[in-house]
Amino acid sequence: MRIGFFDSGIGGISVLNEAIKHFPTEDFLYYADKRNVPYGTKTKDEVNKHLQNAVEDILKEEVKALVIACNSATSISINELRAIYNIPIIEMESAAKPAIKLSSSMDKRVLVFATDLTLKELKYRKLITMLDKHSIVDSLPLPELVELCENLNFNWDELSTYFRAKLERFDLNQYGTIVLGCTHFPYYKPILKELLPSHIQLIDGSKGTIERLSILLKEKSLLSNNGTNNISFQCSSGDKKYIIKMENALNILQNGLNTLKRKYLK
Ligand code: DGL
Repeated sequence: MRIGFFDSGIGGISVLNEAIKHFPTEDFLYYADKRNVPYGTKTKDEVNKHLQNAVEDILKEEVKALVIACNSATSISINELRAIYNIPIIEMESAAKPAIKLSSSMDKRVLVFATDLTLKELKYRKLITMLDKHSIVDSLPLPELVELCENLNFNWDELSTYFRAKLERFDLNQYGTIVLGCTHFPYYKPILKELLPSHIQLIDGSKGTIERLSILLKEKSLLSNNGTNNISFQCSSGDKKYIIKMENALNILQNGLNTLKRKYLK
């Protein structure tokens, strides 16, 4: 049986990409709620409703576990989903913990990029209150970046102007790590690496999430050894063009910085 991945759009493909590397003998179903993306600017009730509809759709297919590859949906709905559905549901890790550890060791601060919704939610605030003993964590909502990503916009000039304006009020020398707390953001790692001071490390939650998935599949004896990394892309709107966009998005992530630069950035 396949492993299911959910996101509002193409963001969760950054998590799927990590899973592909980790599980060479598994197959995957990736589902995007294209009809309702973005989630990060919606209300809690709206996200809960859309997510449950999407999960119902996904469960019409056979999946043995479901990764909610979306930080916004994780912060709003993970407990409700686990209470309703009887399959292993893996939440998106926030990456705040390793970032705080690393920044502390450098005597520097942490900056968290995420959607408005994630940053406002109790789940995130509770986690930061618990972990941020020395008040070194700051946050910055970047909702526009979800839209840029959904449009596969990798225009160098546009993006560098955008990031420079957003980061203007921060003294970046004070920061040791930036958390990419939305699964749409890792697409912009190559650009951020060029724009930010070189000592800043970019951390996202995909590795931690896939490690957690791996532990869970092992515990439940659900690992496959006869899959071939087959990926089936689906979306709530059934839009064929969007399926092609999802395949392109995976290519962009897998082709790395050089191809990205040649094709999209300059
Ligand atoms: N990729 C998502 C996240 O991790 C959702 C972004 C959105 O739909 O606004 O938060």
